[in-house]
Amino acid sequence: MEAVDILLEKWRDRGLSIDAGDNATAAAADVVVLATPWDGATQTASSVEDQLRGKVIISMANALTRIGKEFEPLVPPRGSVAASVQAKVPHCLVAAAFHHVPAKELGDLNHPIESDVLICSDHVEAGRVTSEIVSKVPNMRPLDAGELAMATPIESFTAVLLQLNMHYKTRVAVKFTGVPEPEAATGVASVDGAGADGKTDTKANAKAKVDGKDKGQAAKGTASA
Ligand SMILES: NC(=O)c1ccc[n+]([C@@H]2O[C@H](COP(=O)([O-])OP(=O)(O)OC[C@H]3O[C@@H](n4cnc5c(N)ncnc54)[C@H](OP(=O)(O)O)[C@@H]3O)[C@@H](O)[C@H]2O)c1
Repeated sequence: MEAVDILLEKWRDRGLSIDAGDNATAAAADVVVLATPWDGATQTASSVEDQLRGKVIISMANALTRIGKEFEPLVPPRGSVAASVQAKVPHCLVAAAFHHVPAKELGDLNHPIESDVLICSDHVEAGRVTSEIVSKVPNMRPLDAGELAMATPIESFTAVLLQLNMHYKTRVAVKFTGVPEPEAATGVASVDGAGADGKTDTKANAKAKVDGKDKGQAAKGTASA
């Protein structure tokens, strides 16, 4: 059974609009979420580079390894997975986001997870679109974490969260205090003054998860925002 069939069956009452597809199909979406293990991210993106050209790509991969009982961050080329992807597919607008959100809890539609989502990008449009998607998830707050260089500490910090999960036998999420609500929090695009009113003209009405090696099989988990 495909992952998409499991999701449709599980959330039958939600009327989800999701389809399975290979990476090329996923890359045809308006906004693409790159959610492979860290060491497959650049190759996966470059394999569908033509379809991704000019689009917002949301990179959520964390370069981590487990050594004994410890999770340790790795440092990929250019400091982060997101920056590596941006360098590999330079005609795309890469934003880094969702690194700290536990997937299982995010996928439980009956119990919204309360979490901030740090977003960083070198492209105002990518930050704005990503922020808009995050805003649509109940109890989630997008936060502008600056340029793509910030992906290095954001990705690395995930090791700390995994360590906490192990120690406290739980699944933690991140919530920051002291951030003014709500205008500043929605203002990823307000870095340069654009879109600070929170109005959207984005075409981001679809996103997809590029989550398989491009070997022609149906990708698991093409998902809507
Ligand atoms: N799980 C979480 O809670 C969470 C939260 C935030 C961020 N992340 C990040 O999101 C990414 C995906 O996490 P996950 O838990 O979904 O991982 P996963 O289940 O291990 O892998 C996700 C998908 O990546 C594909 N894949 C595996 N190896 C690949 C390769 N070498 N090249 C291209 N695709 C490959 C797999 O497709 P096939 O089965 O078809 O091979 C799988 O469907 C990771 O980088 C993780 O750090 C995860």
